[in-house]
Amino acid sequence: MQEIAHVISKFSSEPDPDYELSLVQLLNADVLADPHPLYHRIRSTDPVHWDVFLRSWVITRYEDVLSIVKNLSAKRMPSAKELGEQGLGDFGAITSVLGRQMLFSDPPYHTRIRRLVSSTFTPDRVAALSGYIRVTAEKLIARAIDRGEMEIVRDFAAPLPGLVIGAMLGVPEVDQPELNRWASDFAETFGNFTQDPKRTSEILHSCADMTNYFRDCIYRLRSIPNNGLIHAFVNAEIDGDRLTEDEVIANAIGVLVGGQETATTLICTGLLTLLQHPEQIEPLRQDATKMAPAIEELLRYNSPVQLTGRVVRKDFEIGGKLIRAGEPVIAVLAAANCDPVRFPGPDRLDLMRADNRHLAFGWATHFCLGAALSRLEMRISLERLLRLPNLHLAPAGLKWRVHLVLRGLSSLPVTFDPGAEGAAVN
Ligand code: HEM
Repeated sequence: MQEIAHVISKFSSEPDPDYELSLVQLLNADVLADPHPLYHRIRSTDPVHWDVFLRSWVITRYEDVLSIVKNLSAKRMPSAKELGEQGLGDFGAITSVLGRQMLFSDPPYHTRIRRLVSSTFTPDRVAALSGYIRVTAEKLIARAIDRGEMEIVRDFAAPLPGLVIGAMLGVPEVDQPELNRWASDFAETFGNFTQDPKRTSEILHSCADMTNYFRDCIYRLRSIPNNGLIHAFVNAEIDGDRLTEDEVIANAIGVLVGGQETATTLICTGLLTLLQHPEQIEPLRQDATKMAPAIEELLRYNSPVQLTGRVVRKDFEIGGKLIRAGEPVIAVLAAANCDPVRFPGPDRLDLMRADNRHLAFGWATHFCLGAALSRLEMRISLERLLRLPNLHLAPAGLKWRVHLVLRGLSSLPVTFDPGAEGAAVN
């Protein structure tokens, strides 16, 4: 990681063809504001590209990305020895958590964990949250309604998914700020190459605190059970097989981190996109049946998770190039989602787009476990926020979050008419 940051600082100000095709540009706020030109450039110049800065293959065509996520290994955590060799031995605590999560494992281990977790993460459990999501959205809006302005990330999009995941896990609502901070620190390890030793130690502390927190929850639940997901994880059993305590903790962290930052990102970028296309908002307000396809298009157009990683186990040929065993591969889901071969007019926001099988939630074995919950949260959030009368982007203060994987905002100020209420979506 330190090497990458060094190389970026060395080259980023000089014209360099490798830099022009490198994903490290996503750490630049101007590129983050609209990464489609970068993705089109990489895809049309070199769709299976060796990124010298990230030391990884970068895949940008829809068909190729599909092939990568279907065929390559998701088990990509470095071993303790490899981390030590890179001077990152301290990160062992984090990789040992990640190694027990389904996102970073292959079958048969993945199949076992996914079956046990899915047996508890049911459509009924998700549907049962809709009342809580509505009430929570209402409470968050009520705090700001008289002000006539909101900073959406802070006031709505960060707290809402955090509270919802907390309710789903079955942890006390008062713990939400701490859980939110831990999740955000943990997510930083995926896509923000900090070199600040103070920050590294804070992130490691957060990982340790979060692990201890969930271990305590498990002990408490033995004497005071509840209907939450952690308790359900502990009791999940298929053919006599159960999750170990460390697996319960790792996957509770997976759900917390996976479910919080991503959903925050979708709510913010989705709302921003609509406010930037105001002519498309009214039809959504008038007809609730338009909301589901609109959410799919917002996911395609501004995918919250820009990319995911895989590793090649056996030499693999793709796009006329040979990828050697052991080499890492980045599948750029967001680039696949704007591939003109798959999506006609990919840079056009078309809320009624037909045949919109985007890859924003991944595909196949690792398809997002929380997709239904995210769609529900997004739907309720948009329905509520779009009812704010005269809702507009504030003239200043929009800020992109510097992160290589999640394309989100750190600040999204909006204004609306204070006190009044708009009409409900029909
Ligand atoms: C807008 C919101 C979300 C987006 C865009 C998103 C995106 C993704 C993507 C792209 C993957 C697959 C990654 C890969 O193949 O390497 C994934 C997997 C996963 N997501 Fe989500 N996610 C979202 C929300 C959630 C929520 C709310 C939860 C939990 C409550 C969640 C839990 C998971 C888990 C556990 C996996 C791993 C599944 C597996 O490996 O079998 N996600 N997500």
